[in-house]
Amino acid sequence: MGQHKKVRKAVFPVAGLGTRFLPATKAVPKEMLTVVDKPIIQYVVDEAMEAGIEHFVFVTGRSKHVIEDYFDIQFELEHTLRERNKKAEITLLSQQLPKAGTVSFTRQQEPLGLGHAVWCAREIVGDEPFALLLPDMIMRGEKGCMKGMIDLYAHSGGNIVAVEECEPEQAHKYGIVGVGDAIGEGFRITSMVEKPAKGTAPSNFFINGRYILQPEIFAILENQERGAGNEIQLTDGMLKLLRDQDFAGYHFRGTTYDCGAKDGFILANVAFALARADIRPSIEEGFKALLAGLK
Ligand code: G1P
Repeated sequence: MGQHKKVRKAVFPVAGLGTRFLPATKAVPKEMLTVVDKPIIQYVVDEAMEAGIEHFVFVTGRSKHVIEDYFDIQFELEHTLRERNKKAEITLLSQQLPKAGTVSFTRQQEPLGLGHAVWCAREIVGDEPFALLLPDMIMRGEKGCMKGMIDLYAHSGGNIVAVEECEPEQAHKYGIVGVGDAIGEGFRITSMVEKPAKGTAPSNFFINGRYILQPEIFAILENQERGAGNEIQLTDGMLKLLRDQDFAGYHFRGTTYDCGAKDGFILANVAFALARADIRPSIEEGFKALLAGLK
């Protein structure tokens, strides 16, 4: 343990247009939509913080500046809270804020795909392994998904991709991995394919949006041709890196909510609300009444 270069930085690709959530996302980035009382992006940053990440790199796009404001001090608000002696709220805001100087922003100028978005972070990440967290996916589990991956990385080094099982007929929606020998809480990845045509997936283990990658991925992404959906795909780049480096699949056993889809977003709200002692009773009561009324 400990011989592998520490994973200090995390990349958050937040340039997506959020077309599946129009009109809500016309003026508000999808990452700022709230699950209970926090924006989606806060859950993902919290997961990275729990895993010991020290530097947060956001790949943004035009009309996403509100994300930058969110991870800054809101001077007027905090001044007013202090005057009104609102201690709980002040603590809440300070817990949510990464330390000064630990957040970087860069822009993906054109929506060319996830592989291109990750490549846009190359100068800020530099020559070290990094975490990548896709903000569409938020997770609930005993241990955060990224924390579990960092623990596995301490033993395995190399590259790690978190995976979960899906119904075989859902495989065409995701990146899918080929399964090799067992290692720790996962297995060696033998192949990868982005959005396989129906019936061609090598397994039902899908990539859930959490990665630990070695910096050699950047040189590959620089020359990566367009793949599925005519986009520069990260999965295609990883497949090339797999020729030279090891990839482990970390089998995440918690629950993942795809907040990029309406049903996943609503389920996330329900699940995180029910996990909150302060609001669970009233939500439960409301649901009972609602379901009774629907019968
Ligand atoms: C991206 C990745 C895919 C992964 C998915 C998880 O796809 O390319 O491999 O399975 O995220 O959400 P997207 O959802 O951007 O189409």
